[in-house]
Amino acid sequence: MARKRKEFPLLEGVEIKDVAAEGNAIARVDEMVVFVPFGAPGDIADVKIDRKKRSYAEGHIERMVSPSSLRVEPRCSHFGLCGGCRWQHLPYSFQLECKQRQVSDALRRIAKVEIPDVLPIIGADPVWEYRNKMEYTFSNKSWLTYEQMRSGEEFPDRDAAGFHIPGAFDKVLDIDRCHLQDDFSNRLRKFVKNFGKSNGYPFYDLRAQNGFLRTLMVRMASTGQIMAMLAFGEDNSERIEAVMSAVKNEFPQITSLIYVVNTKLNDTFGDLPVVTYSGAPYIEEEMDGLKFRVGPKSFYQTNSKQAHRLYEVARDYARLTGDELVYDLYTGTGTIANFVARHARHVVGIEYVADAIEDARLNSRVNGIDNTEFYAGDMKDVLTSEFIDAHGRPDVMIVDPPRAGMHGDVVDVILNAKPRRIVYVSCNPATQARDLALLDVKYRVTAVQPVDMFPHTHHVENVVALELRQGL
Ligand SMILES: C[S@@+](CC[C@H](N)C(=O)[O-])C[C@H]1O[C@@H](n2cnc3c(N)ncnc32)[C@H](O)[C@@H]1O
Repeated sequence: MARKRKEFPLLEGVEIKDVAAEGNAIARVDEMVVFVPFGAPGDIADVKIDRKKRSYAEGHIERMVSPSSLRVEPRCSHFGLCGGCRWQHLPYSFQLECKQRQVSDALRRIAKVEIPDVLPIIGADPVWEYRNKMEYTFSNKSWLTYEQMRSGEEFPDRDAAGFHIPGAFDKVLDIDRCHLQDDFSNRLRKFVKNFGKSNGYPFYDLRAQNGFLRTLMVRMASTGQIMAMLAFGEDNSERIEAVMSAVKNEFPQITSLIYVVNTKLNDTFGDLPVVTYSGAPYIEEEMDGLKFRVGPKSFYQTNSKQAHRLYEVARDYARLTGDELVYDLYTGTGTIANFVARHARHVVGIEYVADAIEDARLNSRVNGIDNTEFYAGDMKDVLTSEFIDAHGRPDVMIVDPPRAGMHGDVVDVILNAKPRRIVYVSCNPATQARDLALLDVKYRVTAVQPVDMFPHTHHVENVVALELRQGL
């Protein structure tokens, strides 16, 4: 017997009060916190509860009674359905205010250490088409809106090219225009979609795990070079040749046209051979006079312009004179390590992903940098006191961990190594605050600088400078 869905109440005339850390708006009803996606502070709305927990509830705006004066018209026609940008209805200046607050709240509530005033967040410019990389999914099950489902109409053609809907792994929202990357990206995606449809090529079925057109990745570098990578779910050489040659003829500006055949159950292709159909197997990014090779499997910050600003802040906070031994922990493809290398005596980079370390070494070579060395492995296993004995006690450490922050063992090794200065770059102020509390025994925070890398989302990057306490 089908389980009966629990019916939750409709709360009338609820006032949205604020924006929470995860990007949802919040209201308070009878002491209960209600998270409301796509709400704006100042909205009065009837809110339908969708889930209820002991201390909070989640709901959606069923009917707007009076919209907040803060609201602006979202630029994107997919806003509200696509999970990508949840803050397009808020002015950019207010988005920055929220991010600034998110950083100071996390440091105050979680770190509970003495901090100087948080510096005004460095906003992005431009705030549209700022991404250098987009990944689209082809699917034979486009997402249908409630209105479409309720209409009783049949939708026999459900081929889609776009983004996954949050919480529905097998459905894809068909995207007409995404404003996060140059419009070239939309033209290319639509061309492949139309070409596939007019030739009757099956779009991927995420549930049945079959179909020909699977994913498209578009990377556009600041140098003007463009990479397009198609993933095919079937090893059908005739069809592959047809798609690749059509793309090549239509878009001669692509400098790296590549593909992969992926018949696995998931979209990851790190373990698969990538075929270069035409042009080079990589593109090049440029930053501060340095060239960075970016292959299809390489990590590179997705907002190149803001990444440059972020790295400049990190380098300023490192206060290098040319004499220092620097450790760059969680170095990725060695971007920060190479960015600071000309200002330091020697740089040691450590990173989990072995391929990224290969790229980091290559990036040093390409730029004629010979004072870096890189090691691959889990940080807590590589960065030990023996490692520090062997490679030298660092004068400065730059750390840029993933969202989970640093492992406790890593913090302990840092505390024992006692670098004069630490620069902590983070994409998650909550875990950063937790780690700052652990470092507080030996380090005081001297500067806090948030940077916005992702306009219209709630994500924020934060750089903190720490100095070894006197007498230690
Ligand atoms: C936020 S990225 C920083 C990348 C780099 N600093 C940059 O700006 O391009 C975090 C990096 O930490 C690496 N990482 C995650 N967990 C790790 C671990 N346990 N040990 C070592 N590296 C890890 C990830 O692979 C990723 O490259």
